[in-house]
Amino acid sequence: MTTSLSTEAPTTSAPALEVAGLTVTFPGAGPRGVGDVVALHDVALRVEVEEFVAVVGPSGCGKSTLLRVLAGLTPSGATVTGRPVDPARGRDTAWMPQRDGLLPWRRALPNALVGARIAGQDRVVAEARARALFDAFGLAGFERAWPHELSGGMRQRLALLRTCLPGRPVLLLDEPFGALDAITRRRMNGWLAGLDLAGHGRQGGAGRAVVLVTHDVDEALLLADRVVVLSDRPGRVVLDLPVPRDGLDEARRELLGALDPQGRSDGST
Ligand SMILES: Nc1ncnc2c1ncn2[C@@H]1O[C@H](COP(=O)(O)OP(=O)(O)OP(=O)(O)O)[C@@H](O)[C@H]1O
Ligand SMILES: [Mg+2]
Repeated sequence: MTTSLSTEAPTTSAPALEVAGLTVTFPGAGPRGVGDVVALHDVALRVEVEEFVAVVGPSGCGKSTLLRVLAGLTPSGATVTGRPVDPARGRDTAWMPQRDGLLPWRRALPNALVGARIAGQDRVVAEARARALFDAFGLAGFERAWPHELSGGMRQRLALLRTCLPGRPVLLLDEPFGALDAITRRRMNGWLAGLDLAGHGRQGGAGRAVVLVTHDVDEALLLADRVVVLSDRPGRVVLDLPVPRDGLDEARRELLGALDPQGRSDGST
């Protein structure tokens, strides 16, 4: 069965997403409450329609903070300066937080519908579309399962399905496979690559912009058109690398060099 992930995504004029001069500070959040934490400093990022951008960087460098701002949210307690995305554009984005956030008291199908219902979409229409996506996401037959009955990979696919369902033109995915073991993660990567979330060249201009946060350079190279590397905190863009069709080994070396100038990295940050 062929299931379009984009039938309801409205077309958006380019760029799909843009921030410039973005600095995010958490006042008084330093060790023992002394001093400020500057999470991001002077970050610029522009993402086009039908572009899949991966953001990699060391733990604590501000990746999740960046996604929140891209979603049009102000992280709690934060001071945001520079030019963040217009908060109104938050309506165009679907954000998958770092933890799957499935509701344990709801079965899989009602969990999948949460975002679409919050967006005010008709329940019957959303449910029909969700049922079709359960197939595309390898979850057919599990519509009535409880979250605790699903494997880690299935939970993540369900959380991703929920994020895709409202058909928003921008997807913001925060380490969707971060908690999975290496083998499951590689399988999920292959599956996600086949899904083509950005809809490259899909007829009718129904593609999406996707921003994926990951610690995994190989995941970034497999899935993304472009990889943006953030430095240690405060996160700054230290490399913005289009993923070449050929010569991935060299791109990998360049990314690892930007992530770890000391050369001690094994490929995951
Ligand atoms: N609400 C908050 N209040 C205070 N400090 C915060 C808050 N949210 C994030 N921070 C701080 O901002 C910095 C960046 O956090 P963030 O969660 O964005 O990092 P990250 O790159 O996503 O890390 P990880 O890879 O471990 O998920 C950290 O030092 C964190 O402690
Ligand atoms: Mg994070």
